[in-house]
Amino acid sequence: MSNYHIKHLEEYYQVYRKSVRNPEAFWEEIAEEHFVWRKRWDNVLNWDFKKPEIKWFEGAKLNITENCLDRHLPTRGEKTAIIFEPNNTDEEALHITYRQLHERVCRMANVLLDHGVKKGDRVCIYLPMIPELSVALLACARIGAIHSVVFAGFSSHALSTRINDSDCKIVLTSDGSFRGNKSIDLKGIVDKALEACPGVANVLVVKRTGSDITMVPGRDKWLQPLLDEAYADCVAEIMDAEDPLFILYTSGSTGTPKGMVHTTAGYMVYTAYTFKNVFQYKENDVYWCTADIGWITGHSYIVYGPLANGATTLMFEGVPSYPDFGRFWDVVQKHKVNQFYTAPTAIRALAKENLEYVEKYDLSSLKVLGSVGEPINEEAWHWYNNNVGKKNSPIVDTWWQTETGGIMITPIPYVTPTTPTYATLPFIGIQPALMDENAKEIKGNQVEGRLCVKFPWPSIARTIWGNHDRYRDTYFSAYENMYFTGDGALRDAVGYYRITGRVDDVIIVSGHNLGTAPIEDAINEHPAVAESAIVGFPHDVKGNALYGYVILKETGESRDRDNLRKEINQQITEHVGPIAKLDKIQFVSGLPKTRSGKIMRRILRKIASNDTSNLGDTSTLLNPEVVQEIMENSL
Ligand code: WT7
Repeated sequence: MSNYHIKHLEEYYQVYRKSVRNPEAFWEEIAEEHFVWRKRWDNVLNWDFKKPEIKWFEGAKLNITENCLDRHLPTRGEKTAIIFEPNNTDEEALHITYRQLHERVCRMANVLLDHGVKKGDRVCIYLPMIPELSVALLACARIGAIHSVVFAGFSSHALSTRINDSDCKIVLTSDGSFRGNKSIDLKGIVDKALEACPGVANVLVVKRTGSDITMVPGRDKWLQPLLDEAYADCVAEIMDAEDPLFILYTSGSTGTPKGMVHTTAGYMVYTAYTFKNVFQYKENDVYWCTADIGWITGHSYIVYGPLANGATTLMFEGVPSYPDFGRFWDVVQKHKVNQFYTAPTAIRALAKENLEYVEKYDLSSLKVLGSVGEPINEEAWHWYNNNVGKKNSPIVDTWWQTETGGIMITPIPYVTPTTPTYATLPFIGIQPALMDENAKEIKGNQVEGRLCVKFPWPSIARTIWGNHDRYRDTYFSAYENMYFTGDGALRDAVGYYRITGRVDDVIIVSGHNLGTAPIEDAINEHPAVAESAIVGFPHDVKGNALYGYVILKETGESRDRDNLRKEINQQITEHVGPIAKLDKIQFVSGLPKTRSGKIMRRILRKIASNDTSNLGDTSTLLNPEVVQEIMENSL
């Protein structure tokens, strides 16, 4: 029996029990047999959820790129590592072999070294979904620099906040990006962001769109000529197991994003192991995850997990609707994709279109379908199963988070019987717990509570960059000796988990995790606005859409409401990004508040969802009369 590749349900239960009874022995065996190390660890696990401090494979030395690249060269040198499918259908796809990828990574690593980047330095990457993006991550890892990828849909304000928070001295970007029939001026966004980032000394620019941009002398350089001149080999920096590999920002309940820090060895072991099993990847398969590398899904399951397994991973630059709604299926047919991993919001958007867009293509290569980012509703699940999988490809509904680094609750395809809307069983080594209102664990089945994890797993984030207290307060203070996820979940009669959604101030819109605070901060900066509150309401494509309640200042009262709505959304676009725009904006005279001054979002959520039959007790409010007014004028 190979613990590395699980093939039957019985085997799953057996390996699961082993992983829980003796986690250290279990992970030690996986780490030993499937990775290359420069030095073995002294200690498999050291942990304390109170501090909190978590260390896996302490004392070990390695470089993750030797695991993702070098070790494959003798056996898989000519195998395709990355298939690049461009946005425009008239541009040819690119097949980059492991040998070529190794060379490209080494060249970029040398360019970074030439620009003074050293082990431990932070490098900001703001690039579209082009091969240079994957190369940039690996080039940082090659020399021990910490990458901080910022999704290239974020605004200049969001970008500058992230650059400054982690003190990046260098930014990698491109002149522009292609998205459907639009091109976006990425360099312009970077230029604007850098007005607020005096610490950035260099900007290296990939030429992608050929658009007209301004290069700041002494600061900005085109990347390609530097790569051409760079040496094609680069010695890998030897890293400690717990050295940071990257920072990735995620929204929280206050305005500043949290820079989640992932470290090297545990992250590598867990993402590789989950990739192999959750996608049942076999040597000649073509695997495609449609996420952007700007999110954790792309880090773990486009780049590190697949490459550590020597897989062929597809990178798609475009959008599902261009040149038409058949694009995903065209790409599946063209590259004979075997595993396809996407988000419920994409499925719902495509399900609204004519079925011919799917039926036109030969999808018989597909073996596994994945879903991630938010709960997948039953209708979308069936559409995916019937029309894409032809009832022949199991759907893996994978629950996890930026903070968890890898997939936590998921079916294993061809192993775990699936049930629509259920993420089903904990992955190997994961010990979930449901907690009640009194912070007690709810045992048994057919129960519902707040989802926690009792024991560390190798890829858990180790801290929030520069703010360990916030890390402890956010994840380890609600329940003693538990990692708290922020999600609610239920466990059914057979022990399957169903994630019911966030129980905090995070709203998931089109699979993007948005904190209410940064959006409210952006709105409140509008000169006519006194105060605001954002809540989510159900939306048939996005899952949730945003509803904003806005109190105007006296000076704003005379302004045209529709113009104000446009300006508020413009403000949000500039501060957070277009994904955070509000679908509905209602102007109100007050917000329902508790006597301690806290906004009662529960009431606002109900009104926004048109579910006002039972608002609960409003008598304890400071200003109960405002509820009636808000209800009468709701949109
Ligand atoms: C939140 C984390 C991890 C990849 C992308 C999102 C929600 C994620 C599922 C799922 C129900 C899900 C949770 C979670 N979520 N996957 N399969 N079913 N909810 O990462 O941006 O850190 O968001 O996304 O609410 O806490 P993220």
